[in-house]
This record gives sequence, C-alpha cells and structure tokens, in this order.
Amino acid sequence: MRVHILADAAATAERAADIVEGAIRSTPHPGIGLATGSTMVGVYRSLARRCREGTLSFSEATVYLLDEYIGLDADHPQTYRNVITRSFTELVDLRNDAVFAPDCQAPDLDGEARRYDRLVRAAGIDIQLLGIGGNGHIAFNEPGTPFDAKTNVVSLSEATRRDNARFFDSLDDVPGNAITQGIGTILQAKQILLVAQGSHKSRPVRDALEGPVSTETPASAVQLHPNVAVVLDREAASLLSNLRPES
Ligand code: GLP
Repeated sequence: MRVHILADAAATAERAADIVEGAIRSTPHPGIGLATGSTMVGVYRSLARRCREGTLSFSEATVYLLDEYIGLDADHPQTYRNVITRSFTELVDLRNDAVFAPDCQAPDLDGEARRYDRLVRAAGIDIQLLGIGGNGHIAFNEPGTPFDAKTNVVSLSEATRRDNARFFDSLDDVPGNAITQGIGTILQAKQILLVAQGSHKSRPVRDALEGPVSTETPASAVQLHPNVAVVLDREAASLLSNLRPES
C-alpha cells in the first residue's frame, strides 16, 4: 500500500488525478470505477481540466459507478448517475455509451444487481476510486458486510443516511436502500485508489489502514488488495501512528 499525505484537499485532488491519469495512460481501453461523494469533486474537476486542456483523453475509457440509490426518480438531481454526469462525465470526452451504473428503475432489483456484477467483473476495472464513509463504509457496504459480497441490494444505516442528508432537503428524503457493488467486486479491480480529506475522516482512515482487517470496518478490506494507493490530506491522516513523510 502506498500512502500519500498532502498538505490540503486541493493537493489530494491533484495527486489522485495524477494516479488516475497514470492508470489511463498505461492501458489502451481503461476501465475506471467511479465513486460519488464530496471527496471526489476536486479529483473530477482536475481530470476534467486536463481533458479540456487537451493533455488527457477519456475517449477510449469506460466508466462504472460503484452504487446507486433506490427510490429516486431517474431525473432526481441526487441520483448518483446524475451527480456523476454533472460533476464528471459530461465534462470530459467519454463516449455516451461508455458510462454504466446500476439501474435502480429496474423492476427486478436483485436481478439488476446480479446483471451489474457480471458486467463489472467481465469488463475489468483498471482503477477503482473509493471514498470512505464516516463509519468506514466503502461504496454502500455498511459495517458487517462480508468481504466476498457481490453487487447487491442493501439497506443504508442511519449513520450513512445522516452523513448524506446534506444533499437532500431533509433526512426523510434520503433513500433507505441502494444497489452497491460488493466488497468482493471492488477487490477485483487491478488498482484501488482511496481518497480522504478532513478531520472527520481521520478515525475511519486509521481503522481502515492500521486497524485489524475486519468486516466492522469495510474499508479495511483494502489491506487485502495488492495494489492500493491512498491519498490523504494531513487532517485525514492525523490519527495514523506510522507517520509517513509527505510524498
Ligand atoms: C457515500 C458513497 C460512498 C462515499 C461516501 C463518502 O456513502 N456511497 O461511495 O465514499 O459517501 O462521501 P463523501 O466523499 O461525501 O464524504
């Protein structure tokens, strides 16, 4: 595991974008796994800027979302599909047919989860972006999720719904369910890039990187993966005991 500790959130976004750019350049048809959340906003902004400036192209890439809420209308601004469209995919030169997400309008949601799992595994993800939830979740895999879980329909914990309530008018509007890639699916990616910023992420970051590998901290599953980059700002890294120099 390579841990990069940077001065601030802006620097983490640039470093994370550098790592994504490296992965894109190393393969002719990159598969990129996208995470949703505030953490990724700066990363996507940096990647979009590189594309606008003509130094990086996504024209040969295909992207796969990690997860999607169940119960929102397809045109709701907070579906992850719509968030990713606004913050990333419409800002770069991806082909229109190169963006995939779980379809939570499907009549058979369990069947849709199985279909999406097969799609992602068959595609092969070259680099998977991951944020981390306040309770250590990755994608929408809550504490207690087995590490071999496939893409499935999940219930969101109260903690996760509260964390994400800032994107909705009220807590009651936050969906209670989602389809998420399972931890087993995520671990199939060739490379994982975990990004965290801010002191509110310091505890889950410490538990994920230095705590025991335990389903109580879903993000600790990254310790089982052979090719992981972690990009943190100083605040998110502040509880790590193996203090590493900035790099
Ligand atoms: C949501 C997403 C996760 C994301 C997490 C953290 O729960 N499903 O993929 O990592 O939020 O979000 P943020 O980056 O906004 O802190």
